Amino acid sequence: MTDLLVASNRGPVSFGYDEEGRLTLGRGGGGLVSGLMSVAGSTEVVWVCAALSDADRQAAAEAPAGRLDRAGHDVGGTAVRMLDIPRATFHRAYNVIANSTLWFVHHMLYDTPSKPVFDDAFRKEWDAYVAYNQAFADALAEEASEGARVLVQDYHLCLAPRMLRERRPDLRIAHFSHTPWAPLQYYRMLPDDIGRDVLTGMLGADHVGFHAGRWAAAFGACCAELLGADTTPSSVRHGGRTSGLGVHALGADADFLQERASRQDVAARLRTLRAQLGDRRLVVRVDRTELSKNIVRGLLAYRELLRRYPQWRGNVVHMAFAYPSRHDLPEYREYTATLQRLAGEIEDEFATPDWQPLLLQVDDDFPRSLAAYRLADVLVVNPIRDGMNLVAKECPALSDRGVALVLSREAGAADELGDDAVLVNPFDVSGTADALHEALTMPDDERAARTKRLAAAATRLPPPRWFADQLAALG
Ligand code: G6P
Repeated sequence: MTDLLVASNRGPVSFGYDEEGRLTLGRGGGGLVSGLMSVAGSTEVVWVCAALSDADRQAAAEAPAGRLDRAGHDVGGTAVRMLDIPRATFHRAYNVIANSTLWFVHHMLYDTPSKPVFDDAFRKEWDAYVAYNQAFADALAEEASEGARVLVQDYHLCLAPRMLRERRPDLRIAHFSHTPWAPLQYYRMLPDDIGRDVLTGMLGADHVGFHAGRWAAAFGACCAELLGADTTPSSVRHGGRTSGLGVHALGADADFLQERASRQDVAARLRTLRAQLGDRRLVVRVDRTELSKNIVRGLLAYRELLRRYPQWRGNVVHMAFAYPSRHDLPEYREYTATLQRLAGEIEDEFATPDWQPLLLQVDDDFPRSLAAYRLADVLVVNPIRDGMNLVAKECPALSDRGVALVLSREAGAADELGDDAVLVNPFDVSGTADALHEALTMPDDERAARTKRLAAAATRLPPPRWFADQLAALG
């Protein structure tokens, strides 16, 4: 029994198999995990997560009640309960509902003439999402001591707070969304009953948190309109209960980044990148290969920069690191292929024997990303929408010589970094090309001064304080 619990789909560790078919243990990926990891390792937390792969499933099934820490796995001091949710249920809940429906709604990714379609088949997928949330609520109810605090993360687990409250009214429950929240008109695409269930599910929490004020306000607007809830900027009252509404803008972990970026593997990558760059200017982007990250329009903008500002031909290199994500979904596989085709076109149009205008890498290499952060003259972060975007915060915190940040106004990070970034409309490719030119020509002293302010803003709420902030809001 424990006093503090965290629940998220992806956990702090993931399993694989070695050549002999034995289980191997690695670190779970993604921003959410790194944010929570630095906290969970040092606090008495039980972290409840889902088994994502066959190897995870085997490890979870072999551990007593799914508790990996009790099965002799080294999970970095964190107590982890990994849920062995049946494969088909997990697939429907994670790939179909969470990643292809709720993620698409909040990031406004639908091509609406043809999608979404909410039919009988969708209802079956939804039932799986309900079952998946119930499995989390049941596990949390079993692990939590009397009056414990439970921090539920993200759109995978919108229903769990209410389910948990029904079983354990003694608990203090928070829900935190790492994504944006859709505007009311877009959110209303969901079938009415499901739209309401998501909202009432989250309002089972005592506190509902977001990275940015506009996402919290959009959530409040949906509650007011769809539930008739009584909403203020800091609370939602519905069904005789009041949930707090809060903004906790996760910041970059400067201590971790600086220590990590000073290691040998990063120094080796720096040497390689410098050799590829020569004395040219460097434009960097680092993203998951994710539809919302808007990498295609970013590359189109770079192509337009080279077309319209010929002075940059031969004098700039764009390193675009787009590491793999959600490749179970066909849209994501196709997106990677589109990026590669576009990179080929840019290469064909501009490359010369001694200049490669674009280096697109689609593998994951964290030390290389850190080296690029240190070296970048310009960082491009142009998502269609983004809950926060930590890349925009990490790079200024690590920059050696100052970096000019080209930032989408639709990223949560723009609320804190907007004054010192060059803001762009992510759909405006020409505007983004102009912003790249402006960033590349920014005087050195101005760039350095802006970087200092960006770094200060970016590191204001590092993960431990972000976590403490939410606990404080829970009382
Ligand atoms: C990003 C988002 C999180 C989300 C995670 C899931 O990090 O900011 O909101 O939980 O992606 O990604 P996954 O790879 O687990 O589908």
